[in-house]
Amino acid sequence: MKILVTGGAGFIGANFVHTLLDEHEDVDVTVLDKFTYAGNRGSLTDVPEDQVSRLTIVEGDVADRDLVDDLVGETDAIVHFAAESHNDNSLNDPFPFVQTNLVGTCTLLEAARRHATRFHHISTDEVYGDLELDDPAKFTPETPYNPSSPYSSSKAGSDLMVRAWVRSFGVEATISNCSNNYGPYQHIEKFIPRMITNRLRGVRPRLYGDGLNVRDWIHVRDHNTAVWEILMNGRIGETYLIGADGETNNREVVAVLNELMGYPADDFDHVTDRPGHDLRYAIDNTKLREELGWEPHFTDFRSGLADTIEWYTNHEAWWAPLKEQVEAKYAAEGH
Ligand code: NAD
Ligand code: TYD
Repeated sequence: MKILVTGGAGFIGANFVHTLLDEHEDVDVTVLDKFTYAGNRGSLTDVPEDQVSRLTIVEGDVADRDLVDDLVGETDAIVHFAAESHNDNSLNDPFPFVQTNLVGTCTLLEAARRHATRFHHISTDEVYGDLELDDPAKFTPETPYNPSSPYSSSKAGSDLMVRAWVRSFGVEATISNCSNNYGPYQHIEKFIPRMITNRLRGVRPRLYGDGLNVRDWIHVRDHNTAVWEILMNGRIGETYLIGADGETNNREVVAVLNELMGYPADDFDHVTDRPGHDLRYAIDNTKLREELGWEPHFTDFRSGLADTIEWYTNHEAWWAPLKEQVEAKYAAEGH
């Protein structure tokens, strides 16, 4: 089986590529990645020698119609991770989000339609907006879309296009909306790796606003086992929510990181809040569990964070070249 993985040099995509190569010997992988600031060649150069022949890396844009058409024509299935993925960046300049997340997804859908290729679309729970802190409700596949940021609204638009291409053109597509991921190879602009690498540089963690915002954390490898299950056994046209019952507020995350790294739990600073900052995300994963029998394996958040700290500590060469620029950008925003 030949699988085209878009965004395979990014955080979740690179982890997915490693899992495919490690655990599915009958799968050949082609990565299509633009290598934006978020794509990292170092996330794929550590592929073991005996797997290298099963991996092809193409540098290019998911919005490049001719390139996408050629690649999709040689592919059995597409798993579409490529996106502009960071909320803070979308607040500063939304145009790359519209171009990649909407025009790029449309380009892939048109190629999938022409070649009758199976398509799995990776999306986020942020399309549903946010929940109150004291609300017992969680997001379900029936929750109305209500995105808050340019990032989440562009992802919402891409999801709706996938649904329309299924209905109008019979494209064999599925969608998954996952909660916040953590684990190895995550760009250091994101919360958990930013806090870990700040600590490694002797800088106190920085919480936006009061730090009480809740995210439903899932280990990236649990996200990817769910994606594989949906690709293989999901029903065409369906949306599956992926989450591992990991609701934790930002202060609690920082407290655990601090303890694991040898600092007092409350050793952090408050900085300017993000405009429109979503309060709480929470996933009801019943459909995924009951219909596809999926279960998460990395359910001990503390030990998952300890492994993630170890990864960043041991892979300084992977993230150090990015650190100064990321922090300069945040400093300009008051973060
Ligand atoms: P990331 O920013 O780490 O990686 C994105 C990758 O896409 C990079 O390698 C980048 O070079 C590539 N890319 C960007 N624009 C491109 C283009 N025009 N053409 C080709 N490649 C391009 O993102 P991530 O965190 O790995 O997220 C992957 C997907 O998962 C996204 O669709 C995101 O919306 C979704 N998602 C992420 C999370 C999370 O917690 N990170 C949670 C739920 C869903
Ligand atoms: P982030 O990793 O940007 O993911 P998302 O916006 O998709 O949830 O942020 C996770 C949470 O952490 C979010 O509530 C914002 C907060 N945050 C901080 O408090 N400090 C930071 O330096 C960053 C990057 C995020």
